[in-house]
Amino acid sequence: MTVLVVGGGGREHALVDALARSPRRPEILCAPGNAGTAESAENVAVAADDLDGLVALAVARGVGLVVVGPETALVAGLADRLAEAGVAVFGPSRAAAQLEGSKAFAKDVMRRHGVPTADSRTFGLGALDEARAYVEAHPLPVVLKADGLAAGKGVVVAETREAAREALAGMLEGGAFGSAGSTVLVESFLRGEEASVFVVTDGTDYVLLPAAQDHKRIGEGDTGPNTGGMGAYAPAPVVTDAVRQRVEARVVRPVLDGMRAEGHPYRGVLYVGLMIDDGAPSVVEFNCRFGDPEAQVLLPLLESDPLDLFEAVAHGRLAEAAVETAPGAAACVVLASAGYPGPVETGRLIRGLGRARAHATVAHAGTARSDEGNVVTAGGRVLGVVGTGETLQAALDAAYAGADEITFEGKTLRRDIGEKGVRRDP
Ligand code: AMP
Ligand code: GLY
Repeated sequence: MTVLVVGGGGREHALVDALARSPRRPEILCAPGNAGTAESAENVAVAADDLDGLVALAVARGVGLVVVGPETALVAGLADRLAEAGVAVFGPSRAAAQLEGSKAFAKDVMRRHGVPTADSRTFGLGALDEARAYVEAHPLPVVLKADGLAAGKGVVVAETREAAREALAGMLEGGAFGSAGSTVLVESFLRGEEASVFVVTDGTDYVLLPAAQDHKRIGEGDTGPNTGGMGAYAPAPVVTDAVRQRVEARVVRPVLDGMRAEGHPYRGVLYVGLMIDDGAPSVVEFNCRFGDPEAQVLLPLLESDPLDLFEAVAHGRLAEAAVETAPGAAACVVLASAGYPGPVETGRLIRGLGRARAHATVAHAGTARSDEGNVVTAGGRVLGVVGTGETLQAALDAAYAGADEITFEGKTLRRDIGEKGVRRDP
């Protein structure tokens, strides 16, 4: 069978590697892929948001399953287009992907089904004065969110009135986020510790993968600007059995049942971003895909065949699939380019990839092959070094041992990945 993985980052390299471990030995295509995916897949130069190109590729190559990494194509309707062409897909329809594509839609779903989440109000372009008055009167900090996809940049946590005013003006008047900002959510600030739960579902049945924790800020101790994620680990002990049960009862079942009852069953993986305060979880966000770098730690913990799992989801037969997770833990340390999340220089030679493999696996994110055949940097997040072990500490030791073998000019990493987890569960 031929499988097409859509995307070209660290998450997609982890997906390619997981599929390459399948005893069914699928032929794997990756569009567009990176220097890492090229080692076990055939990279095809079609962009991850080129719906026509992806459908044409899947049909031309007789693809039996498409696994979609990033959200953009899903929100634009890639799964619907593939289904129309008779190609099985792991990923939600355009309507179901609105859980990520529109924060206002997600809030409405949560409100209708009693899901715990921050109180919020939605304002469109026609309600500028109302929005201003509401923000003025809102207790601080106040959280402002652009409604649509904004590549992780659509959220401002304002600590002062001035910052709140500026953020609102930027979103509604300045077009800071393009059409994503023409509707703004103003919501209450949630306290606690963040973690995410991943629900693999065919719309009716579901399985939960181990809970993960990302590290979104660039700086150690969770300081500095937000990034795509500087590291992750799983399982995250802040998600205790009791929290997990609450999330299933108050979030997962009501949302999946609600989406199905309302005519857009959710199929694929649902990323449930949580804020957990003293054992009480609230939903911060939904994403319609695996996290990046969370996928890099979740897929190595999947003991059963990921191809069987994704295929079962695509065909609505999850109840028949056996899903086993491995004991132990996994940790991913991201190596970024100097300047990330701002502008970065690329084309820097990467050394030590072979030596790193003695300790860890390496998920390529922003890498490319130079004309001379060397692996060079090609983006902000360059590599994710993934360690596994019986304990979280052992997984972290392996990941850092691998990370320390790799060198490139400007290599930037956080040394405190997983510390919160180790503190909770030494
Ligand atoms: P989102 O794109 O909705 O995930 O938001 C990005 C980040 O902003 C989250 O991962 C949180 O760290 C933070 N955030 C979003 N909403 C809230 C909230 N209501 N309270 C506190 N932090 C939030
Ligand atoms: N690591 C955060 C995300 O994938 O949204």
